[in-house]
Amino acid sequence: MSSLIVVILAAGKGTRMKSELPKVAHPVADKPMLSYTIDLAKGLTPEKIAVVVSADSEIPKLFNDPALTFCVQKEQSGTADAVLAAKPLLDGYKGNVLILCGDMPNIQADTVSKFISAAKLEKASFITVKSTNPKGYGRVVRGIDHSVYQVVEEKDANEHEKKITEINTGVYYMAAELLLERLAKVGNSNAQNEYYLTDILKDGSFGWLAEKEAEFLGVNDRVQLAQLSRIIWKSRATKWMEQGVSIINPDDVYLSPDVTIAQDVTIYPNVYLQGKTTINKGCTLYSGVRIVDSAVDEGCVIKENTLIEESHVGAKCNVGPMAHLRPHSTLVGENSIGNFVEIKNATVGKGSKANHLTYLGDATIGVNTNVGCGTITCNYDGFKKHHTTIGDNVFVGSDVQFVAPITVGDGAIVAAGTTVTADIPNNALAIARTPQKNLDDKAGSIRLQKGGKR
Ligand code: UD1
Ligand code: CA
Repeated sequence: MSSLIVVILAAGKGTRMKSELPKVAHPVADKPMLSYTIDLAKGLTPEKIAVVVSADSEIPKLFNDPALTFCVQKEQSGTADAVLAAKPLLDGYKGNVLILCGDMPNIQADTVSKFISAAKLEKASFITVKSTNPKGYGRVVRGIDHSVYQVVEEKDANEHEKKITEINTGVYYMAAELLLERLAKVGNSNAQNEYYLTDILKDGSFGWLAEKEAEFLGVNDRVQLAQLSRIIWKSRATKWMEQGVSIINPDDVYLSPDVTIAQDVTIYPNVYLQGKTTINKGCTLYSGVRIVDSAVDEGCVIKENTLIEESHVGAKCNVGPMAHLRPHSTLVGENSIGNFVEIKNATVGKGSKANHLTYLGDATIGVNTNVGCGTITCNYDGFKKHHTTIGDNVFVGSDVQFVAPITVGDGAIVAAGTTVTADIPNNALAIARTPQKNLDDKAGSIRLQKGGKR
């Protein structure tokens, strides 16, 4: 391929988003809208990528990247004027120019490559597509044949609608010289007083028909943002199914771009994998699971409504339902972490269990230790955080509090209901309870006193 400059238009106001955030910075399926176009452009290894922005735009700050040249369009007076913002890069340039819009995140790289190879460089080449909703575009272009195109004004779109088969997608490719020549002739004598890029097609052009309309859907408002996200979530799910992942309902699964999933993982509906998350072979993720920036090793079962953040789950663990691993938690492997258990900044040794209603924060737990129901590491004294260390083969009964800092030796037993305030030696039994008294018939006599029956 001959040398190339890519121009990405992103100076539009995006008012229909009704947002403080620039339109192209909004995430589409967990990736900023403009990043899709930037990544596509980078894949073509151009000499330069020019991003056209408005004067007060926050885009250069949000997409700070030495590979990009930001060009300022002073006033938003139309798409042709927007391309002219890149004129300093294009003057005297002997290569070709590809024009993309920053609000079309679903265009596929191989479609653009095919278009570039098919383009006729002596003409202004552009991509068209058969549209089910031609009115949705500002100005449409009706195909007469693939070399002559008629520009239709928006106000006439209705009467032309039935005849319209193809629309201009807004993707163009031509020699820089030809582009500048045609841009110089574009005027603004129309209802909006705008300089329309479509006008560069008037003096002969080549329309290349792309196959899939869905690649060229633009985002103008939050409804379209959701539609595009849906399409992209679904295609990511499809990609992982092709790699050997079973997905029960690919319409309802949310896999961020940097997630990796191994073979024979099964994913139930409404699972959300975010950030740099890795799921290893043979895991099952049930509904309502969200995992962020974490690794889950082979053969784990993560049950309903479990949240895992910045943590590592070793092989063959059972976690959930309704468990919460907060940042810096490590389950070494073969652990069983059950209902309503919260773990934070803690390591749970191989084979150890905490099956019910427990908080383990700032703690280290050895191997094959059983943490009973309702155990709490009291890690915070109102001023500082303190650590709890529990050894191997420890049995912690139900409803135990460890007032940290505490160390529990290997093989110890902690009786149910104990508030542990001193370290426990190896193999000791710790018990701290008020001895029980049974007062004969006391319950019956209280009922009589209150006017009830014994
Ligand atoms: C435009 C095209 C239309 C194409 C459609 C695809 C023209 C006249 N119309 O219509 O042919 O089918 O895109 O979505 O070219 N922009 C600027 N500066 C401006 C105006 C727009 O940078 O002054 C940018 C926008 O940020 C956006 C792109 O250009 O990325 C398209 O602008 P938009 O206003 O959305 O145009 P459409 O009406 O959709
Ligand atoms: Ca648009």
